[in-house]
Amino acid sequence: MTRAAVVAAVGAALPASVVSNEDLTARLDTTDEWIRSRTGITRRHVAAAEESTADLAVRAAAQALTSGEPDHVDTLVLATTTPDRCCPATAPAVATRLGLTGIPAFDLAAGCTGFLYALATGAGLIAAATARTVLVIGADRLASLPHPHDRTTVPLFGDGAGALLLRHGTAGKPGALGPVVLGSDGTGADLIRADHPGALHMDGADVFRRAVDRMTTASRQAATAAGWDLGDVDRLVPHQANSRITSFVARQLGVPDGRQLSNVAEVGNTGAASIPLLLARASSDGRLKPGHRTLLTAFGAGLTWGALTLTWPDLTRTHRLEGAPA
Ligand code: UT7
Repeated sequence: MTRAAVVAAVGAALPASVVSNEDLTARLDTTDEWIRSRTGITRRHVAAAEESTADLAVRAAAQALTSGEPDHVDTLVLATTTPDRCCPATAPAVATRLGLTGIPAFDLAAGCTGFLYALATGAGLIAAATARTVLVIGADRLASLPHPHDRTTVPLFGDGAGALLLRHGTAGKPGALGPVVLGSDGTGADLIRADHPGALHMDGADVFRRAVDRMTTASRQAATAAGWDLGDVDRLVPHQANSRITSFVARQLGVPDGRQLSNVAEVGNTGAASIPLLLARASSDGRLKPGHRTLLTAFGAGLTWGALTLTWPDLTRTHRLEGAPA
């Protein structure tokens, strides 16, 4: 039996404050119709000034820990493009606030693909028997990156966090992560860039084309690596950047609309939080059910991209996890 990382619990956190498209039209030269038709977004959650990436990460992770009930967590990986400070990393503070002082905890920056990179890292630690349980968090405050008056970027982004608890298990079983496909291309580094908060620049049209291309290719590769036909996919969970991008990807993969999960209308593009927020939402509202063959894919700044498969596990029962590192 091959050792693999298995999803044991999910958690999610969104800031209380909601900014609707109508709210934006009061301060930007835009319309609800433009934002909806070009992006699919109707509102987004935006963190208060004093609400940090760590605050969101702690809330999402605490939910995953409460439902997963691990006896011990061996490693914490925090995917984020918006750490609280340049130095130190945000992850150790998050770990300490969760009562996990002493374990390895580190940030991982891979743009909106960060969560898939972090899952791959956690899965690798488990496969190598370096860890038995890994807490993987994606948390971002992307709404802080655009210039407040830039109508081309402000409507796109929201804040949030999501978390998955991974435990050691057996490859091929429900919840086990399949082979991960990851990639990057630094020649596109300037296409999405921010030297500091409030200075985001994005070449939207070029990013759009590349996002469709890379997510489609990575999804095909991940499905093939897992031995799946694309017709086997019950649920496509793409990074939520823009509903037109995700529809193109689904169409190119031949995944029917009803099998594509989305929450971009309610949260916008939440960066590294996007995929775990969607998994948490869809598993709680029943769109994602135990046994669903699920394909995750993402694309983001870097440029970076990735995809992986898993069969969604039954998370309703309590998982009592074993203690010490292997
Ligand atoms: O997470 C991964 C990173 N990000 C992404 O994946 C985002 C990828 N890109 C996109 O989602 C889309 O390119 C956008 C939503 C950013 C833009 O949509 P688009 O259909 O590519 O529009 P565009 O940039 O080609 O702009 C079309 C027009 C322009 O006007 P002109 O030059 O044709 O007169 C823009 O100035 O729409 C204008 N425009 C707006 N008008 C009203 C741009 N933003 C707005 C706005 N309201 N908010």
